[in-house]
Amino acid sequence: MEETYNPLENVQSHDWNKERLEQLKKLMPDLFTNDGQLNVNELKKVVDPNLVTETERYEFRWFGKSKAKREAFTPTNATLVYDESRSVNPTESENLIIEGENLAVLKLLSNSYREKVKCIYIDPPYNTGQDFVYSDNFAQDRKAYWEDSGVTEEGVKIDTNTETDGRYHSNWLNMMYSRLLVARQLLREDGVIFISIDDNEVHHLRKLCDEVFGADNFVSNIIWEKKFAPSNDAKWFSANHDHIICYSKNKEIYRPILLDRSIEAKLRYKNLDQDERGDWVSGDMTVKTYNPQYDFPITTPSGRTVNPPKGVCWRYSKEKFQELIEDKRVWFGEDGDNVPRLKRFLSEVKDGVTPLTIWYHKDVGHNQEAAQECRKLFNGAQYFDTPKPVRLLKRIIELSVKSGDIVMDFFSGSGTAGQAIMELNAKDFGNRKFILIQIPEMIGQSSDAFKDGYKRISDITIYRNKRVIDKINEDNKESDFKKKEELPFEMVAEAQETYMKKKNLGFKVFKLQKSNFPRVEFAPDPDKTNEENVELLQKYIRDKESQLVTAFNRDDLMTEILIKNGFTLNYKVTKQEHFKKNELFLATDGEKETLICLDISIDLETVEQFKKQANEQQKHKFICLERALDTTKKWNLKHYLGDKFNAF
Ligand SMILES: C[S@@+](CC[C@H](N)C(=O)[O-])C[C@H]1O[C@@H](n2cnc3c(N)ncnc32)[C@H](O)[C@@H]1O
Repeated sequence: MEETYNPLENVQSHDWNKERLEQLKKLMPDLFTNDGQLNVNELKKVVDPNLVTETERYEFRWFGKSKAKREAFTPTNATLVYDESRSVNPTESENLIIEGENLAVLKLLSNSYREKVKCIYIDPPYNTGQDFVYSDNFAQDRKAYWEDSGVTEEGVKIDTNTETDGRYHSNWLNMMYSRLLVARQLLREDGVIFISIDDNEVHHLRKLCDEVFGADNFVSNIIWEKKFAPSNDAKWFSANHDHIICYSKNKEIYRPILLDRSIEAKLRYKNLDQDERGDWVSGDMTVKTYNPQYDFPITTPSGRTVNPPKGVCWRYSKEKFQELIEDKRVWFGEDGDNVPRLKRFLSEVKDGVTPLTIWYHKDVGHNQEAAQECRKLFNGAQYFDTPKPVRLLKRIIELSVKSGDIVMDFFSGSGTAGQAIMELNAKDFGNRKFILIQIPEMIGQSSDAFKDGYKRISDITIYRNKRVIDKINEDNKESDFKKKEELPFEMVAEAQETYMKKKNLGFKVFKLQKSNFPRVEFAPDPDKTNEENVELLQKYIRDKESQLVTAFNRDDLMTEILIKNGFTLNYKVTKQEHFKKNELFLATDGEKETLICLDISIDLETVEQFKKQANEQQKHKFICLERALDTTKKWNLKHYLGDKFNAF
């Protein structure tokens, strides 16, 4: 092994304590925390358990856990702004690609998308010692995220979590904990989350998810065969699998969608005896749990007597066996001379195949396939190193969502999930929707991607999905739908028409940005009196509000206000022409509706128009700027509209 030369070694005194701790760790690893620190309480317990009075309940603890929980539930000072120039077919689609740090974005969506997402897939940093693990102090303490610095300084990732960091595992757990806590709120009651991970953190992730989702909601630890050949330079074992941890929001309600029976599986069903119930396969009629009552001779149609092999018995009682024979459900072979087997009809088996927990690369792809798929969309260039195969994402999606459902990936990388969804929709004319979130992580300046104009990973997410849309459109032009789908012709024509009408082939891009509303950063001056501080605060608010009124972009502010009021990002606005003195819009997202006006002054005539509605049952909500009203107008609107009126 290569020795690292430490020039200070002979000058510094030897750290005996460190060495003794290392020895203790080797002898008694259970006395050390997940982060490798000595747990003094555990040591005391070795000497005398009575020295420690802590409650002995089983619990998963790490450094910073309570802070991470607090962080998850602290409101964010950010908003989302629509980026039309980078969106593709935005009016046709409800898909979203959001460029931003995922915790802040999740918090923003947690109002409008609460319990709306059917499936979350994430492929977070695996914490291998080299990857970027976002620290939530970042937004406050480090170089400003907002100021376009991305998360690198001179091309160096400043949030790389290295193994030498004393809080290596805690850092990762804190990052994951807060995000999963918020993400859980977005899942529908019948929703499900799949998390890709490898052996570095799988054990911690299971415990973390037990805590966030409840151990009872654990569904499966799926093993995905990610490689097909060993890495010969591996020191111990060459890992060729990843884990995909699956938890449901509520296991009592959640059920996976059965997988379509493969053509091969269907071909195994035949109708050897022209049975009117159709094709069947035959299965064994014996069981190993021996019961003497079920051990009896059977006479075959050819007249031969057959007994179950020694130590096993029939699966059915004598009477049941007779019933099955009479119902022509027992197969004795073409000549009626074979050991009896039970006929299982294709028409009677479950609609699909129950998913297994080992996923082989021949069925769902491997890492190399994923890299190739991504390269193919970028003219052969390798712009993104760790994509997942599209087939893997398709398997997860097919198991979890139906047309109309939302899938979310908040560590979306190159955006494979978007490709999988759009390709599945194109194949079965479905309308599954996606929300991808990707931080604008800077790409190394020496990389090909950077040289070719992709400065941030989110640029790759967006461009990859744009290319997928181009490709689907090209393919659809060339092929007729009939060839691609084995559906009856009339169904194809109808489905094709619906699909073309609302094919959801596109996406809107939103970016995380500082809120349009001034954050209350006011800190009272301890050298001033209370009255003086109140006066200073009032002045501060006045100044900030006038900044808001003069500096805002109307559309951005409208998005922010609507998100805060629980509207999804696919809201539409229509100008209300019957309001002559102010510009009022009706905003709707299909579920919620409100009138909104961002003019800097609300005219008396507008207020009067609301008076007419005062006694109507079906009043619209109305939102406007606080600054746009004097006290009388505000009082009147409150009087006419009650809690349907909201001034920001
Ligand atoms: C392993 S990659 C995901 C790859 C993806 N499954 C694919 O197929 O392309 C993880 C991604 O999460 C992003 N990421 C890490 N921390 C993030 C954060 N706090 N917010 C948003 N994205 C983040 C990284 O920039 C990286 O692109």
